[in-house]
Amino acid sequence: MRYVSSGHSHGEQITIILEGLPSNLEVSLEAINKALKERQLGYGRGSRMKIEADEAEISSGVLFGKTTGAPLTIVVKNKDYLNHKSYMDPFNFTKDFVQKITIPRPGHADLVGAIKYNQDDMRVIFERASARETVSRVAVGAICSQILNQLAIKARSFVKNIGKVEIEADYDPNYIELSALRMPSKLATEKAISLIDEAQKNQDTLGGTCQVEVDNVPVGLGSYVSYDKKLDARIAQALLSIQACKGVEFGDGFALTEKFGSEVHDEIIYQEGFRRSSNHYGGFEGGMTNGMPLILRAAFKPIPTLMKPLKSVDIKTKQTTLSHIERSDICVLPAASIICMYTVIYEITKALCEMFTANTMESLIQAVESYREYVKRF
Ligand SMILES: Cc1cc2nc3c(=O)[nH]c(=O)nc-3n(C[C@H](O)[C@H](O)[C@H](O)COP(=O)(O)O)c2cc1C
Repeated sequence: MRYVSSGHSHGEQITIILEGLPSNLEVSLEAINKALKERQLGYGRGSRMKIEADEAEISSGVLFGKTTGAPLTIVVKNKDYLNHKSYMDPFNFTKDFVQKITIPRPGHADLVGAIKYNQDDMRVIFERASARETVSRVAVGAICSQILNQLAIKARSFVKNIGKVEIEADYDPNYIELSALRMPSKLATEKAISLIDEAQKNQDTLGGTCQVEVDNVPVGLGSYVSYDKKLDARIAQALLSIQACKGVEFGDGFALTEKFGSEVHDEIIYQEGFRRSSNHYGGFEGGMTNGMPLILRAAFKPIPTLMKPLKSVDIKTKQTTLSHIERSDICVLPAASIICMYTVIYEITKALCEMFTANTMESLIQAVESYREYVKRF
């Protein structure tokens, strides 16, 4: 299974070609659109999210409501395109009326992208570097989650901290969907909203951490035999490729380094099959799922565009000046938690389709069921 996406942040559309889905998967457009909407929500987003109301269109690979086994073409139109058409239309542009953006933002792809692709206008860089691209990750993951549903594999995600505001003792997973920040804590949500307000007042931005959990993943997805078959490594790569993601940890992650081995290795027990008495490794050993719930976290840096800009240098004049300002988000952790969850869902589905006969949904379901029986008997 693989996909490629194209599209600019303010271009006409994001296009995705997704190949390798089993045939006969009943596709719910409603579920894809619900996921796309979730990506747009959350306290701390900029005004762009009020313009866009993302909706997917599928123009190939699905007939009579079901996948055919052929590549899917998925399109999500950018409503904001009409406001930018005069210069975002690839050929019919009026570039002379648009001022070039020549001052790169520290922390963004602007400067290095301009050097690498020999551009004198940063717009050319950030139109693709922007996180609008994550629409593709969510749309693909939302289709894959319809496969996982049929295998009773369930994923969820939440925001663990924003800046220094951590989930408090009132941890309640039922609160995630009620929280404006997808935090499972009312107290933390209130404190984090105040922190975001403070950041906005100071014309600053914030980062944070989100957590993804997946239940009922079969034992042995991924493999230790080669570096590129290790599923934890593949998930880490996929998450680190999300804009602004700076770290990924599994289970107790970096905290493991401060403990003795006897405190952290998950002991093996036998209770109607092999199990672990704890889950310090977040469900992975040797690059393979070990049957415990997957638990992983992704760390996001504060958003680069600051309304009170940092120092930069104009690439044309070479003069020190204040960096360029774009309409921008203040904190994107709720969206990041959704993007991370669908990214993990895609990687798990891909690994499942590699390990089991996945030409059709029927063969995939049957293969996973009989493998689960085999694991129980082992
Ligand atoms: C959901 C989401 C929304 C984002 N929105 C913005 C934004 O409005 N302004 C901005 O400067 N960066 C934003 N970013 C982060 C930048 O896209 C990212 O920092 C930049 O592309 C450079 O990549 P890097 O941080 O991975 O090095 C966003 C990231 C995510 C995940």
